[in-house]
Parts: sequence; structure tokens; C-alpha cells
Amino acid sequence: MKRKKIIAGNWKMYKTAQEAETTIAEIANGINYNQQNDVWTATPFIYLQNLISRFGNTTIKFGAQNCYTKDEGAFTGEVSAKMLQSIHCSFVILGHSERRQYFFETDIIIHEKILAALNHNLLPVYCCGETLAQRNTKKHFEIVEQQIKEALYNLNADQISKIVIAYEPVWAIGTGVNATSEQAQEMHAYIRSLLQTQFGDAIADAIRILYGGSVKPNNATALFSQPDIDGGLIGGASLIAKDFLSIIESASE
Ligand code: PGA
Repeated sequence: MKRKKIIAGNWKMYKTAQEAETTIAEIANGINYNQQNDVWTATPFIYLQNLISRFGNTTIKFGAQNCYTKDEGAFTGEVSAKMLQSIHCSFVILGHSERRQYFFETDIIIHEKILAALNHNLLPVYCCGETLAQRNTKKHFEIVEQQIKEALYNLNADQISKIVIAYEPVWAIGTGVNATSEQAQEMHAYIRSLLQTQFGDAIADAIRILYGGSVKPNNATALFSQPDIDGGLIGGASLIAKDFLSIIESASE
């Protein structure tokens, strides 16, 4: 099956409001509008409403990097999926390894966040991936299987069809050491086989699985040409319009 690729930027906690506007304007002006892939950016929460109102009519879709499990309540400092929906956000990254590491998110919590996002029509981008120690001890398949199982297996057919998965080996994030296209393809094919067993061929075939971890203009083509890699979740390189545009082009090759 031919799946439409997604090139998603994860800005993390970078850029001022002015820098955010400038970068999005550069991306919007630089995109080749004949290219057929989905272009998404996850900026910090506080810029989303402004960026969506200014650039929501371009091909770029805007999303958040996290949301809370509940719709509203006395949860100081949190932002809900309901709130994100009310400003016309399109998607939300959930379970990023930095959220797991620094904010102690577990797959149980992430599963609740996925349900909250789906309830408010946000497409969840569910991140999974092993640490270096886990890969070195050959536990990477087991770890990723566990993550996929706990966060996704009890979704119904309609819910799982709306999920985008991002395989992000922790050792590749922000390190400049990307997984080779063979390593990434091997894990993507494994994830798809898990989905096949749990949800059937048609659903597994349609789910988009992105690779993330040091994707750069010089390695994007090799990664995106793999049969089970349906685009990328891009951190550092998505902050620089020229690099992000070049990665978007790579996905069209
Ligand atoms: P990176 O980050 O591209 O800077 O490695 C990827 C991510 O954290 O999603």
C-alpha cells in the first residue's frame, strides 16, 4: 500500500514568538506546493494559536508536543486536548522519550493521553523506542513491543486507524547518530508485524510509522526510501527552515 509520508517537526522548547513566526513563514514560502506529503510542525503551546491563525491556510498542519489526560479541572500548568482542539490544532506528539525521562510518563499515562487526544479529534503521534543500553543487550524488540502493547493494543479499529507511530531510538535523539536505514527499517517492519497480528492486515498496512532521531538533510533520503518508513519526526533540523525544507523534498524523491 502506498502511504502518504509525513514530515513532522518537533521544535521542543526552542524559539521566541518572533523567531517562530519567521521560521514558519520561511517554511511556508519555501515549500514546493507540488509535493504530496504531509508537513506538520509541533511548536511550543504558546505559539500555536497565533501560528494557526496566520499560517493555517498553508499546507502546514500545527500540533502540540504534549497534552493532559483530562479535559479540564484543577491541574495547574497543564493543557488539555479539548483546549488544543478549540484552537484548531491538528495533532499532538505523545510519549516522547524526553517526556518519559524527565516527566516520568509511563505507557499507562500515555494511553490515557491518546484517548483524550482522540476524543478531541487530534491525531496522536505515539513515540516509542529503546535506549542504548537496551539495544546493546539486544532487548530493543522486546522494549518496543511492550510500549506498543501497553499504549495501543486496547484501542478499537477506528481509534488505532487514527494513530501515527514514531519510532525514535533514544540513543539517536539529538546525538547526531541516526539509526542506519537498515536498523530503522528492521524495527519499522517489526512494529508493522505487531500491528498486523493485533489489528489485521488492512489496518497495519495503512498506519504511518515515522522514524525520528538525528534525521538530517544528508540521511533523510536513505531513511525515507525504506518500505516501512513513512516519513520522519524531526527535532534539531526542523528548527532551521532550509534544512527542514530539504528533508521535505527528500520525502518526495
Ligand atoms: P532530533 O530529535 O532530530 O534532534 O534527533 C528528534 C526528536 O526528538 O523527535
